[in-house]
Amino acid sequence: MSEFTTRVAVVTGGGSGIGKAVAIALAEAGAAVGVVDWNRANAERVAADLCGRGLRALAAVADVADEPAVKTAFATIVEAFGDIDILFNNAGIDNAVPLVDMSAAVWDEMMRVNLRSLFVCTKAVLPAMQRKRWGRIINTASQSGYKGAPAMVHYCATKAGVLGFTRALAYEVIDDNITVNAIAPGPIDTPIKDTLPPEWVAAKVAGLPIKRFGTVDEVAPAVMLLASDAGAYFVGACLNMNGGDHMA
Ligand SMILES: NC(=O)c1ccc[n+]([C@@H]2O[C@H](COP(=O)([O-])OP(=O)(O)OC[C@H]3O[C@@H](n4cnc5c(N)ncnc54)[C@H](O)[C@@H]3O)[C@@H](O)[C@H]2O)c1
Repeated sequence: MSEFTTRVAVVTGGGSGIGKAVAIALAEAGAAVGVVDWNRANAERVAADLCGRGLRALAAVADVADEPAVKTAFATIVEAFGDIDILFNNAGIDNAVPLVDMSAAVWDEMMRVNLRSLFVCTKAVLPAMQRKRWGRIINTASQSGYKGAPAMVHYCATKAGVLGFTRALAYEVIDDNITVNAIAPGPIDTPIKDTLPPEWVAAKVAGLPIKRFGTVDEVAPAVMLLASDAGAYFVGACLNMNGGDHMA
């Protein structure tokens, strides 16, 4: 029997891309999965596909930076499946704007969705994890959080912030047997890529040692490791899968 059959997982941004792949991997391993997304149709489609295969999943719609909405969404998951054991903080947005042209509204929305969401979602699950003395929190950073990227000052600042959040919280909760780690994908072929200018994408591929974008199925196994019992010794770590874009 898989260890995941006793786990309840929440995947934010589970309606698409990396989050969808991880929601599928967790459910296939036996976990009950809350698919949280602000795109209702996508979240419901992912959950319905999993349930149709006899797996356990539930869609819950929320803007992950909106504290009351997150509390309500997570409560429906807890009611259906029990306390949340694994949180994959993955929902995020991306766009490319040179700083000189960037409005404060664009800056603020990036901070809200990519960084405030970690505060909101993590705070919502920590008390139950502390009570149970077991938890896994995995945050999606980006290799851009290490190396920067042109026209993405706001995005890179949030992803560097995700790494700082991960390391600081890892200290706070390891005594409760809760691990906090991150992943830092390089360019992965998901719908978020379509939000970037084609010339930006072409330049990115040309500069990659592996000369291609990665797939979501090349990201999910790292999340599964960090979510597992075998991942217990990863504390405040970040796993990089980036085709050589940033070798660290
Ligand atoms: N694709 C890449 O190249 C890449 C590289 C590094 C990091 N990342 C990160 O991976 C994560 C997932 O991105 P993806 O590539 O799968 O993109 P995606 O657009 O396919 O998926 C993101 C999901 O998050 C949801 N979402 C966005 N803002 C939300 C909000 N405020 N509330 C609730 N849901 C929200 C979207 O609806 C979408 O379903 C993001 O944090 C992104 O920054 C992606």
